[in-house]
Amino acid sequence: MTVPTTGTADYSEKIPNNVNLHEDRRLQRALESWQPNFLHWWQTMGPTLPTQDVYLRTAINVGRDGWAQFGHVAMPEYRWGIFLAERDPGRKVGFGEHKGEPVWDKVPGEYRAELQRLIVIQGDTEPASVEQQRNLGATAPSLYDLRNLFQVNVEEGRHLWAMVYLLHAYFGREGREEAEELLHRNSGSLDSPRILGAFNEETPDWLSFFMFTYFTDRDGKYQLGTLKESAFDPLSRTCEFMLKEEAHHMMVGTTGVDRVVQRTVEVMREHDTDEVAGLGAIPLPVIQKYLNFHYSVSLDLFGGETSTNVANYYTAGLKGRWMEDRRQDDHQLTSDSIMVDSLSQDATTGEQSIGQTEVSALVGLNTDLRREYIADCQGGVKRWNRILEEGGVRQRLKLPHVAFNRRVGAFAGIEATPDGEQLSVAEWQRRQGEWLPTDVDKTYVRSLMQPVHQRGKIAAWIAPPRNGINGKPFDYDYVHLA
Ligand SMILES: [Fe+2]
Ligand SMILES: [Fe+2]
Repeated sequence: MTVPTTGTADYSEKIPNNVNLHEDRRLQRALESWQPNFLHWWQTMGPTLPTQDVYLRTAINVGRDGWAQFGHVAMPEYRWGIFLAERDPGRKVGFGEHKGEPVWDKVPGEYRAELQRLIVIQGDTEPASVEQQRNLGATAPSLYDLRNLFQVNVEEGRHLWAMVYLLHAYFGREGREEAEELLHRNSGSLDSPRILGAFNEETPDWLSFFMFTYFTDRDGKYQLGTLKESAFDPLSRTCEFMLKEEAHHMMVGTTGVDRVVQRTVEVMREHDTDEVAGLGAIPLPVIQKYLNFHYSVSLDLFGGETSTNVANYYTAGLKGRWMEDRRQDDHQLTSDSIMVDSLSQDATTGEQSIGQTEVSALVGLNTDLRREYIADCQGGVKRWNRILEEGGVRQRLKLPHVAFNRRVGAFAGIEATPDGEQLSVAEWQRRQGEWLPTDVDKTYVRSLMQPVHQRGKIAAWIAPPRNGINGKPFDYDYVHLA
């Protein structure tokens, strides 16, 4: 087996990489035989809009002086490569029972099954989002947005490569079988769906796409952040590099919602009305409902409030906390506790109510990560509300209560309003259209999704971006359609 060292990517190779793939012929051949299956998946499950080429960023190196190049590329010829962040030869395990020991270059036998599971779950989300977004090109509001969609898509494809590399290089035959399964499961499939719920939801329109890249890609950022802390060094270095690419995906979501809100404000002011539905913009209550949906399904991705599996991952050094090295504690947490959300039952009436309960910090790690995520999500709401305020509009957007629309964890069994008031199932069924997109809302949003594929033009429901890509103007020819 090759112990990867960081070198410069060799673009004459079939699979660009900085892991010295040519030194390990078996691994190279295994990946080369997976490659046509990947390309077949891309052709059948990837973007459906035919294009000649797209102005894309391609990862070419991991060094400080530039890691990407930009250029027009035919998408099936995109160079999906394998890149690990530079090795830190002195790196030590930062938490858990192995804290202070040197990190691992190989998979310890006793943690093999757990590490493989973590990698498969992360890997499964990457192609899932490409599948969810495959038809969006047909309704892109501008060539700039179309290019961003494809950029996100090819990079999620590369993230799949990143996980498949780890499976092939470190998990033998089982790893290779899992790599095949990653191409066989499909988003929304009845027979073999993707592993996590949010990745089986549709992304049928661009408002959903921006909410997805804001809220659901951000879950990915937090999961990668915990895996970056892993004592298994190749996983850590892989995730560190993936996080660089994720930053762009976050930007697409954040500024995408910015621009929708901006345009809505403009139309509200222009016509001096809140009722912008007939005027080609997306009403603020509809934006709020989309936000409610994407936020709540993304909260589910963090799992239950308590988890002994996750406690074990932490103790073993497999998965750390967000910003582990900035935490001011012993990084072992064996005697710490945390308050987590819970349902408490009244002893006499038997009624359940939303509350909190104290558990050991290790068992509550999912809650710790979800709270970091929620705090980050507040940042988006704040900036969107600034746009409303500056536009002289009195309405505000907000994150719904943590118990709203949950299907995983303590609140899976109850229903609650966005303000956190409990509801009966019957009342929830009657009123959920006030808080989640209805068929009428979705149909209206879809009616706005008329493609604008002319250079420099943009759809009426969204404002143009402040900046183009890589210093190019908005009216640059980002995509050449076939
Ligand atoms: Fe990703
Ligand atoms: Fe992403």
